[in-house]
Amino acid sequence: MKDVYLLAIESSCDETAASVVKNGNEIISNVVSSQIDVHSQFGGVIPEVASRIHVENISLVIEKAMKDANMEYSALDGICFTQGPGLIGSLHVGVQAAKTLAFAHHLPLIPVHHITGHIYANAFVDEIKFPLLALVVSGGHTELVYMKEDYSFEVVGTTQDDAIGEAYDKVARVLGLPYPGGPQIDRLAKTGEATYPLPKPKTENELDFSFSGLKSAVIQSMDRLKRRNEEMIPANMAASFQEAALGQLWNRVDKALELYQPVHFVIAGGVAANSRLRELVTENMKKYSNISYTIPPLWCCTDNAAMIGASGYHAYLKEIRANEDVGANPSLQM
Ligand code: KG4
Ligand code: ZN
Repeated sequence: MKDVYLLAIESSCDETAASVVKNGNEIISNVVSSQIDVHSQFGGVIPEVASRIHVENISLVIEKAMKDANMEYSALDGICFTQGPGLIGSLHVGVQAAKTLAFAHHLPLIPVHHITGHIYANAFVDEIKFPLLALVVSGGHTELVYMKEDYSFEVVGTTQDDAIGEAYDKVARVLGLPYPGGPQIDRLAKTGEATYPLPKPKTENELDFSFSGLKSAVIQSMDRLKRRNEEMIPANMAASFQEAALGQLWNRVDKALELYQPVHFVIAGGVAANSRLRELVTENMKKYSNISYTIPPLWCCTDNAAMIGASGYHAYLKEIRANEDVGANPSLQM
């Protein structure tokens, strides 16, 4: 089969990114321009600011991705882009860039769902086997996705309220840690112990998640300690929160693995960079000797465009195409 080269564009949140990917599993170039430094000054992503920075950076990022790949547009087989979900203003910038380039260079235009990108990021390090179960954990998503076969996605568990990354970021903020809080809590928790009792939320669907109660419980626990003039040990609070949050994740994963009996399990998304989660996966997967698993390297956990190229390749093969009036869809379904 002929090699397929795709330019991929991602701008759904606070990363402006472009990448050239060969056959869905080989990175030819990968450029990510992060806005974290700007947003950390505000303690979170300000959508208006994010879209403005995307506008400033998108052309340079795409140009660099093409230059690093040492390729002309005529050598590409298509352009894929994140259509959603994400921030409308941010998505819009990537969508417009992809449409303009596809039109100018007469290339097929391939829409990609951001979460499918996180899942297919694992294709850069492992052969993905089906049926597959994916745990997608990021700032905007907490999802268990069952894939019976290539490019078929069934969301079998989701959060009823906050995403797990959002909970990490909010708890970090009450602990006085900078944005993004996930890596901060990860680091701090290593020096503490889970000494503070926190609730285990029940959900109606046993594969669903809930994190807003946990976040409130952390705040209440801190208030209680303050009222009693007792010392609050931040590292222990971070560890308590982390153990409760990840314990809930694994409780659902365990049930889903039993229920769906996949041959492969992967984790994906920004929170998959969490060192304790990675430890838990290695420990807990020992009991599933018939299920292979992939823990993606840190660089492909957080947002990037290569993962959009990985998913876009399979969309390309399935002849999924967008026409010139496609728009960003902040609440796109898988
Ligand atoms: O996938 P991502 O880059 O963007 C979204 O699609 O949301 O994920 C960002 C999220 C943030 O909430 C960040 O705090 C969290 O991932 N995160 C972590 C870690 N690294 C990033 N959470 C826990 N532990 C980490 N080491
Ligand atoms: Zn993401």
